[in-house]
Amino acid sequence: KKPVIISTDPGIDDAVAIAIATSNETLDVKLIVPISGNVSLAKTTLNTQKLLTFFNKPIRVVPGSNKPLLRPVKDASGVHGKTGMDGYPFPEIKIPVDNKTLAATAMHQVISESTEPVTLVGIGPLTDIALFIHQYPDDLKKVGEIVLMGGSLGRGNFGVLSEFNFGTDPEAAKIVFTSGAQIRVAPMEVGRQAKIMPETSNKIKTLGSVGDMFYKLFSKYRGGSFNKGLNMYDALAIALVIKPELFEQVETHVEIETTGRYTAGASLMDLKGYLGMPNNARVATNVDTKQFEDWFVKEIAKTM
Ligand code: BDR
Ligand code: CA
Repeated sequence: KKPVIISTDPGIDDAVAIAIATSNETLDVKLIVPISGNVSLAKTTLNTQKLLTFFNKPIRVVPGSNKPLLRPVKDASGVHGKTGMDGYPFPEIKIPVDNKTLAATAMHQVISESTEPVTLVGIGPLTDIALFIHQYPDDLKKVGEIVLMGGSLGRGNFGVLSEFNFGTDPEAAKIVFTSGAQIRVAPMEVGRQAKIMPETSNKIKTLGSVGDMFYKLFSKYRGGSFNKGLNMYDALAIALVIKPELFEQVETHVEIETTGRYTAGASLMDLKGYLGMPNNARVATNVDTKQFEDWFVKEIAKTM
């Protein structure tokens, strides 16, 4: 099993990503680091505990950052609802949180104890992964790869040219992309290619209590926009880890804009080599939408 650490801000698509990652037979999720992003750190932490309790997965939870490195907090509660996971009455929490350890230290501990390379999955702002890299640069030798959902090939969903996870903390994204780590990334556009359409949501609804839970969360996503299809962005990062063959991937240079007055957080995915810089990431440029959909439903069924 591949050891994995997940940095996440649940969030509805994060919730699905966590469910799939913690139930998949090829992954061993060693640590989850909730972070401020879609909603506050207090809420993403609580949501992580709710999910792990619901799925009965006693995984270590160490809360990470409550704000970006340099910039003010901007959340996405307009998309994910006030709590980040509205609409489902989760059972009483049974999974504790380790508030005594710094997230970067906890990541270092997992990596030090592991006999195999650890995969870091980032599906929220990159603040905690950046702090970890800053504090434990030598650990990157034992990080197999960093797999991210974030950035965009073109325009953004946070700013004109910036996607939420990179746009909320551009400096952190910059640290990650200049770290020399092996990086793979599923940008916004591949998430949009793989929208979950109403027929799929209806299939998921039939999957017992898990289906019921997700269907209820989905019905609050963007205030309930089933018909236009739901963006399951973060599940794409998990698919990149578990089933990379679903994607077309291109080795390229990704530059993170940090100084642009209007463009900070933009990810320049330099597919045509304009910048003349060495490749530092593999970017997923396309996903097989039909196969992704089948994979998605099957993986959710496994969480039951
Ligand atoms: C990303 O931003 C968040 O709102 C989602 O959870 C996802 O990680 C998409 O841009
Ligand atoms: Ca997220």
